[in-house]
Amino acid sequence: MKAIVATDQAAGMAGVKLVERPEPQAAINDVVVQIHASGFTGDELTWPSTWTDRVGRDRTPSIPGHELAGVVTALGYGTNGLSIGQRVFGLTDWYRDGTLAEYVAVEARNLTPLPGDVDFGVGAALVMPGLTAWQGLFEHGRLHAGQSVLVHGAAGVVGSMASQLAREAGAYVIGTGRAAARQTALDFGAQEFVDLDNDALEDIGEVDLVFDVLGGDIAKRSASVIRAGGTLVTVTGPTEARPSGGRTIDFVVEPDRAQLSELVQRVRVGRLRTNIGEVAALDDAVAAFNRTERIKGKTIIRVHPARGLPKSIQETRKAASA
Ligand SMILES: NC(=O)c1ccc[n+]([C@@H]2O[C@H](COP(=O)([O-])OP(=O)(O)OC[C@H]3O[C@@H](n4cnc5c(N)ncnc54)[C@H](OP(=O)(O)O)[C@@H]3O)[C@@H](O)[C@H]2O)c1
Repeated sequence: MKAIVATDQAAGMAGVKLVERPEPQAAINDVVVQIHASGFTGDELTWPSTWTDRVGRDRTPSIPGHELAGVVTALGYGTNGLSIGQRVFGLTDWYRDGTLAEYVAVEARNLTPLPGDVDFGVGAALVMPGLTAWQGLFEHGRLHAGQSVLVHGAAGVVGSMASQLAREAGAYVIGTGRAAARQTALDFGAQEFVDLDNDALEDIGEVDLVFDVLGGDIAKRSASVIRAGGTLVTVTGPTEARPSGGRTIDFVVEPDRAQLSELVQRVRVGRLRTNIGEVAALDDAVAAFNRTERIKGKTIIRVHPARGLPKSIQETRKAASA
């Protein structure tokens, strides 16, 4: 199969290339998915899990990308709950080969059925930002109706999802970003916008929750606008910022079948939309992964354009009906 591999940590992007790799096999409780659309995070080459396994052994060449939508083509020993031919989407393990490839082996529990009326590209674009926003707002941030939330980077991939979900849950949403991001942030659900380059963050008054995707000094300054006992949630790693009498939580997104089902239902009824920027083919994925200019929105790699069912499934069905 075709796959993008990262070969050498020291070489960074120079060691990322399109190669032929053997198709993966489904281990216990795995499925193999033929990938139709894949998503990645731009900074994956800085993640330790791109280079080593859980005990620190080198695992190069590794396949980056951990978001997918596709069709199940094989079941591992003991795998239940998914079937061959089923449309699925989900998040793959950080320490295993990922989704910038034609096929991936992934734990079935990490996948959720993708309804037939939801495009594979939309499914892939929903996974990481949707789960990150959901977990940050509702699990860690315990946000509920009537509260207020400051969403940093509200025109960005994760922030635009967080603004929509928070608004839908009945919270008052203040988005932040650069001046040029104002209209996009408002379009994605923010009710107010703070231009971080020109407005004083401190002027917004107090909020119950800050959802941070920027970190650094902005995370630190944000602690002062949280009401006593409120919460700062960040996805940028540990921070010393603490709201007075409140909690600070940094977390890494986890796969969650129930949450993905909730998210995709909202997409189907038009209550949530993805923030897709560029769509590229797998043959062009190295260039897409290596963008030097800023791309607004999520980059999605189209691996298999909808060309009917994968061959292996057609053969299984032919054999079954013979
Ligand atoms: N821990 C986790 O589980 C997890 C999960 C998902 C994502 N993340 C992390 O979350 C971060 C955001 O991801 P994303 O996909 O949402 O990125 P993104 O689409 O680039 O969104 C970031 C937004 O913030 C804006 N921004 C950046 N720096 C700014 C600044 N100094 N002042 C004002 N606005 C600024 C960006 O504007 P411009 O485009 O103009 O720069 C963009 O609109 C990344 O670091 C990612 O690795 C973590």
